[in-house]
Amino acid sequence: DRAYTVAVLPGDGIGPEVTREAVAAVDAAGAAHGFHVRWSTHDFGGVAIDRHGPPLPDATLAACRAADAVLLGAVGGPRWVGGAETPETGLLAIRKALGLFANLRPARVDDPALSPLKAGIAAGADVLVVRELTGGLYFGDKVEGDEEASDLCRYSRGEVERIAHVAFKAARDRRGRVTSVDKANVLATSRLWRRVVTAVAADYPDVALDHMYVDAAAMALVTGPTRFDVILTENLFGDILSDALSVLPGSIGLLGSASLGDGGPGMFEPIHGSAPDIAGEDRASPAGAIEAAAMMLDQLGETRAAGALRQAVAEAIAGGVRTPDLGGTARCSAFGAAVRGRIDAAARVAA
Ligand code: NAD
Ligand code: IPM
Ligand code: MN
Repeated sequence: DRAYTVAVLPGDGIGPEVTREAVAAVDAAGAAHGFHVRWSTHDFGGVAIDRHGPPLPDATLAACRAADAVLLGAVGGPRWVGGAETPETGLLAIRKALGLFANLRPARVDDPALSPLKAGIAAGADVLVVRELTGGLYFGDKVEGDEEASDLCRYSRGEVERIAHVAFKAARDRRGRVTSVDKANVLATSRLWRRVVTAVAADYPDVALDHMYVDAAAMALVTGPTRFDVILTENLFGDILSDALSVLPGSIGLLGSASLGDGGPGMFEPIHGSAPDIAGEDRASPAGAIEAAAMMLDQLGETRAAGALRQAVAEAIAGGVRTPDLGGTARCSAFGAAVRGRIDAAARVAA
């Protein structure tokens, strides 16, 4: 059997609840598709602060570096707000340490009836946000005073070039269109961004490029999302737009993401946070975590198993197994069980 080593960082809040279901779904797909995952679980985020002090303990980072991939739940929560180191600083630190500059966040509308948007607007939407993940305001020098504070936004040509290549290559495998989103009417970093993206586009004559300001893009995403294929944008804009993106299919609980660098293990996580408002109640949707696991399997080359995970999630939802965020009453654990049941059933049909 093919074997992979995956470091699991369940994190805080609903993180452990949703990663448990994602891990079990991968195990079911592995049994059906001839591979085995060696899982190891590590403290990260608030739980690591409580047990060890820092949110990203050395042992956790070392285990991630040694793994084929990292599967993350979510981190953060009210009890760690205001510390010198927080779960969120740990998240930025691991992204930087693993060199994960490219964050891919796809969303597709399978059933427009689940979207809060009018069906005619949501139907057919299929968008990939390519978010730069290790630059911009998140990583610039900070001044944090009581009377004054600042966050420096900085990008280099090389940082823009490498994420632009990711977006253009992704567009080639999709519908051949990149929309670069910036605020070039105001920000110097955005003007550099636009020049560099335009230059990189010359390498991809088969891909159509257009540019939009982020405010207009935010509106277009919820008024005419089918105009988008790949959205290429900087760190903070990508964070904001990807939560808005989750409105299209109907819940933030549905979206997964892949964070990739140059070789080395990728990190795979749902786009949502630790959802303190529903943590511990077995009512979170694990669909986004399972989608993240599918993206991980794609990256590992297990594309048939990845497809099996996605099909099982889609069938479960279409069959009425829905968590409360989609208007149903299914528990997180019951949704996971329904997904495993469908993975097993599909494997029996294939055999
Ligand atoms: P959130 O994404 O945790 O929650 C926003 C809303 O969406 C809440 O009402 C929540 O109940 C709902 N929701 C989120 N995931 C869901 C799921 N799987 N199923 C059903 N409903 C779901 O965002 P927030 O409340 O702004 O942040 C909470 C904490 O999470 C903060 O500490 C924040 O910093 C952190 N956070 C972490 C990550 C991450 O680890 N990658 C991402 C975003 C936010
Ligand atoms: C995300 C989160 C993180 C981000 C926070 C928790 C640091 O919102 O992964 O989308 O802003 O990148
Ligand atoms: Mn976010």
